[in-house]
Amino acid sequence: MVIEKICCIGAGYVGGPTCSVLAYKCPNIKVTVCDRSKERIEQWNSPKLPIYEPGLDEIVKECRGRNLFFTTDLDPAIIEADLIFISVNTPTKTFGIGKGRAADLKFVEACSRKIASLSSGRKIVVEKSTVPVHAADSIINILTANTRPGVEFQVLSNPEFLAEGTAVQDLLNPDRVLIGGEQSDAGRQAVEDLCWVYQHWISRDKIITTNTWSSELSKLVANAFLAQRISSINAISALCEATGADVSEVAQATGMDSRIGSKFLQASVGFGGSCFQKDLLNLVYISECLKLTEVASYWQKVIDMNEYQKSRFAARIVERLFNTITDKTITILGFAFKKNTGDTRESPAIYVCKYLLEEGANLHIYDPKVEPKQMMTDLTSPMVSVDPEKVRELVKIYDDPYSAAAGAHAIVICTEWDEFVRLDYQKIYDTMLKPAFLFDGRKIVDHESVLEIGFHVETIGKRV
Ligand code: NAD
Ligand code: UGA
Repeated sequence: MVIEKICCIGAGYVGGPTCSVLAYKCPNIKVTVCDRSKERIEQWNSPKLPIYEPGLDEIVKECRGRNLFFTTDLDPAIIEADLIFISVNTPTKTFGIGKGRAADLKFVEACSRKIASLSSGRKIVVEKSTVPVHAADSIINILTANTRPGVEFQVLSNPEFLAEGTAVQDLLNPDRVLIGGEQSDAGRQAVEDLCWVYQHWISRDKIITTNTWSSELSKLVANAFLAQRISSINAISALCEATGADVSEVAQATGMDSRIGSKFLQASVGFGGSCFQKDLLNLVYISECLKLTEVASYWQKVIDMNEYQKSRFAARIVERLFNTITDKTITILGFAFKKNTGDTRESPAIYVCKYLLEEGANLHIYDPKVEPKQMMTDLTSPMVSVDPEKVRELVKIYDDPYSAAAGAHAIVICTEWDEFVRLDYQKIYDTMLKPAFLFDGRKIVDHESVLEIGFHVETIGKRV
């Protein structure tokens, strides 16, 4: 079947950029991205997109209104589509069975029911969201239980591997595209149809086809392996601090072994983002349900190490500031979970702020891309504080780093934004209270030069 019309349900960090690049590379395909959030769709249709990704504005500008459309009007988009991506959020469950660990598939299920109720003819339904193994079973069940004569569905798994901050580059030039499908003639045909879409810009040898369950599991495994590398190097960072070794040197020496590789060995305050923890918890939960206790506890340790790293860093700030930070002013540089995104989901900065607020510190926060409203929403959430009023008193948000640092006892770098490497630290030092402390949670500052200025410096994985 020739794919002429694609619908994507979910205009988030995945649905938006993925479909924008798809529309850009396939001008002959009409791509309609739908979301139930009116605000999000209005932003996608405005000059200021709801998410910041380098290179995305240009692509959306070129395609929007040509073959790329953003709408809340889901029904007609589903009805006309040959292929439908389900790209909705799959957060960790907050209540009921599997609370705090299992993935909540209620949004995926809602999409499946909607698709079942509106479809006629042949449709390919693609799981783009990250889901537990065998989630496709539930989608197939819902579709077939509600199907009408003449309707034929194929369900594929096509997980997304983009990283935020580099989404456009990752989508234009992916390491691989993974498509899982049913091992039947109709299943194989649907896989080929989706391959055809990707082959508009990706060579066939980079497109891997597998059975559905391998595809679903591979996505969880890829994230688990990436997170495991970060927890491994973070564990070593504690060892470096205790022994006088330098974690950057250890990472370089270790990563140059081509069997190990150098990527994802950057020790940090801890990993954040909406997916690593969620997908690890999901893997742990699946393993437990299958009575694979050792497997579950092995992967749980990756999360435990991340918690340890975040709390170790936050505790060090208090300890170095003479064990009391009540009424002291601490400047937080960076609130996003990594550079080049405005996303704050599971950001280690939130954890650090929570810890410092509990100790009664005043926080001055600056981030080049995170909206002040988002920071306040995060910091006044019940997960962070039971007293949102108190948080509003203690937190001030700034739109430049120099004003944020003026009069502070300490600066804490939580996100590795390039602009923090290039700041005039002499100018900052001059306006701070003395002794002035710099806690570099990302190892991005030239420590020799800030020491020379007069800062007391603390970083990850190295005695300064
Ligand atoms: P998101 O929260 O940014 O976007 C999801 C969107 O789906 C929201 O805008 C929400 O309003 C919408 N939605 C939910 N239910 C809907 C419904 N029934 N009808 C219409 N719209 C609906 O999430 P995201 O970051 O884009 O992640 C989506 C999925 O992709 C998740 O499963 C995630 O694990 C996976 N993933 C995310 C990334 C990433 O970098 N963020 C990368 C790879 C995979
Ligand atoms: C990650 C994966 O890299 C993507 O392949 C995957 O598609 C995505 O999750 C997902 O499924 O959501 P993302 O979370 O956007 O992408 O960003 P990463 O670059 O992986 O960074 C995650 C966190 O780890 C950040 O807080 C980052 O600062 C931290 N990190 C990363 C380190 O602390 N050290 C490193 O060496 C690398």
